[in-house]
Amino acid sequence: MRPHVVGHLAVSLDGVTAGFEVDLARFYAMATLWQEDVTLVGADTILAQESALRSAPQPGPRSKGPLLAVVDSRARVREWDRLRAAGHWSDVLALYADQTPARPPDSRTREMITGYERVDLDETLQLLGKHHDARVVRVDTGGTLLGVLLAQGLIDELSLLVHPVVVGSGPRWPGGFTDRLDLGLANVEAFEGGVVWLRYCMT
Ligand SMILES: NC(=O)c1ccc[n+]([C@@H]2O[C@H](COP(=O)([O-])OP(=O)(O)OC[C@H]3O[C@@H](n4cnc5c(N)ncnc54)[C@H](OP(=O)(O)O)[C@@H]3O)[C@@H](O)[C@H]2O)c1
Repeated sequence: MRPHVVGHLAVSLDGVTAGFEVDLARFYAMATLWQEDVTLVGADTILAQESALRSAPQPGPRSKGPLLAVVDSRARVREWDRLRAAGHWSDVLALYADQTPARPPDSRTREMITGYERVDLDETLQLLGKHHDARVVRVDTGGTLLGVLLAQGLIDELSLLVHPVVVGSGPRWPGGFTDRLDLGLANVEAFEGGVVWLRYCMT
């Protein structure tokens, strides 16, 4: 069975997802709400963190943490061992497609292969449910991966931490999505400093 899929994003008032100061403490505190089994991440989100990851503490895998699954059909992510040891996840899983370039022969990263040129996200979610017992998946993305998942009807819940800033330019969520979607409001909460949490479910 396909797991419940939540998109949780920090956004500016004009829908930009990068280039402003995110209330990270609140963002990750709220992310614990779902107790996800799998954190599904876009490769570009990982690549944006790679240099910080190289100097970050490496406490080792967190046995009770979620599995980190990264959509990476072009095999751009290199720091798998550091991600595994970052202390947030129990293990890492590379999500590849048939046409993904060859990996280093000494790679010990677990892989799941779906799709031909790009990862098949629907099949991936089904397999995460079947082989990894995933009931809840939280998507961590700057918006591109979220847009693709929304277009394929694969998002069940949307959680936006809206920051009181207009950024003007920058990547907006949900990248590339052009359809119309009606959602039902599940919760609203305002925090000190002007950050507002909006939680929606698909109708
Ligand atoms: N504000 C927030 O809450 C937040 C959260 C996370 C990250 N960020 C920021 O957002 C930026 C990165 O986000 P992003 O939106 O640029 O990228 P992203 O969502 O992290 O990555 C794009 C992903 O979408 C995949 N993809 C695109 N089209 C696809 C398709 N048709 N089928 C399957 N997979 C597809 C790509 O796969 P392949 O390329 O591997 O094929 C890639 O893994 C960074 O600056 C990061 O710091 C912000």
